[in-house]
Amino acid sequence: MKSRTIADLLSKENTLQDVEIKGWVRTFRANRFIALNDGSTINNIQCVVDFENTEETTLKRITTGAAVHIKGTLTESQGKGQSVEIHVKSIEILGDSDPETFPIQPKKHSFEFLRENAHLRTRTNTFSAVMRLRSSLSFAIHKYFNENGFYYMHTPIITGSDAEGAGEMFRVSNLDAKNPPLDEAGNVNYKEDFFGKETNLTVSGQLEAETFAMSLGKVYTFGPTFRAENSNTSRHLAEFWMIEPEVAFMDLAGNMDLAEDFMKSVLSYILEHNREDLEFLESRLLDEEKTKPQAERSEMSLIEKIKFVVDNNFKRVSYTEAIDILRDCKPNKKKKFKYIIEEWGADLQSEHERYLVEKHFNCPVILFDYPANIKAFYMRLNEDGKTVRAMDILFPGIGEMVGGSQREERLDVLKEKMKALDIDEEELWWYLDLRKYGTAVHSGFGLGFERLVMFATGMGNIRDVIPFPRTPQNAEF
Ligand code: 4AD
Ligand code: MG
Repeated sequence: MKSRTIADLLSKENTLQDVEIKGWVRTFRANRFIALNDGSTINNIQCVVDFENTEETTLKRITTGAAVHIKGTLTESQGKGQSVEIHVKSIEILGDSDPETFPIQPKKHSFEFLRENAHLRTRTNTFSAVMRLRSSLSFAIHKYFNENGFYYMHTPIITGSDAEGAGEMFRVSNLDAKNPPLDEAGNVNYKEDFFGKETNLTVSGQLEAETFAMSLGKVYTFGPTFRAENSNTSRHLAEFWMIEPEVAFMDLAGNMDLAEDFMKSVLSYILEHNREDLEFLESRLLDEEKTKPQAERSEMSLIEKIKFVVDNNFKRVSYTEAIDILRDCKPNKKKKFKYIIEEWGADLQSEHERYLVEKHFNCPVILFDYPANIKAFYMRLNEDGKTVRAMDILFPGIGEMVGGSQREERLDVLKEKMKALDIDEEELWWYLDLRKYGTAVHSGFGLGFERLVMFATGMGNIRDVIPFPRTPQNAEF
């Protein structure tokens, strides 16, 4: 007799055999029915206890949250909604769970409460489903790149460069806090941070990924990135995971094709492999929708939304076209935008992005050719001298999912741009070398993994799709 997972037991027609299972009690009803879960599936298996032949002391220890080891016979179930159940022959309590203090009771908890108990929240259906989907999406991402000839590269976490030039970095320092080195003016000399170099946590692996693209051709990174922005929104984290492909000899049009194909592929993967979790999350969302006024309810269910993205082309729109749409529109009859777009060159706020994807086009939108002065220094300048080959992919319900570009491959143009932005050439001498030795057209993008998980699970807050969220409020775990 071999120990099996609940997913395995529920997926096969193998009744009337002895089985052995370990898991956590979700509920125990009428001194007889245990709903057991082991994390392998959203579904519990019902274990029927022969209470007359089980000691009273053991029965008392079968409480929500307890870890148990059950031996019994797998039998066809008479109960509704389950094909099989286990008739328990023996039960061992591996770990007690005090019902008075165990925070995860069999009832609806608020997501705020569960965030404070992030170490236990994956004992709930919602969070276990989200984490299984997160895992599946990670696998699908590696699978996609592997099958398409990309190499997986690890880029540094501690780095001396600010890839985005936005200054949103966490300093990394091994300075002696009690006795820090001082500069001539008597201030702490942070230039000594990391054995004599000023360093920070990476905001993006892109610049290093470019070095690999310029030798291995097609590469990607998938790792943690850090942003010291104090944004308390439902879409920002201080620590998040980013997927960044980078490809030599590929232009912006190729970059858009790659991003679209990639996203469709990983989303199809979960439609095929994570059906039960998606159906569970979909029904959770339907319940939530019922509490809203009719006009605000979503027309599509979670699975329909994912299918829609997989089956339809993303709309490709230039920044200039988008501005024309936004300039003379009102999001609804009464209310205008908080920030009115008056002029070409203005940066889009999330309300504008949402209007474009959710009201105007009603599908994912790839916005491209942005004004140079609102985008990062490394983007390829267009022939018009004022726009760059940038692209952002906007998703309904999420906003910006992807940011990418064709990179500036011309040494002189790049140097000029850096000078205008006061970026020290010496800091990025190695990056400039790529333009000196065998430069070529190349492009890539960054996809915020948690935003993809939000879309795929329908979760409304980014803090609920990462195991331990790092935000200005959440850092104790
Ligand atoms: O648009 P961003 O800043 O682009 C870059 O970092 C480029 N170097 C990527 C590249 O071309 N290789 O970030 C890329 C994506 C965003 O579109 C968003 O999905 C996500 O990363 N992102 C965040 N996700 C969660 N929390 C934050 N604070 C995020 N900041 C960006
Ligand atoms: Mg961006």
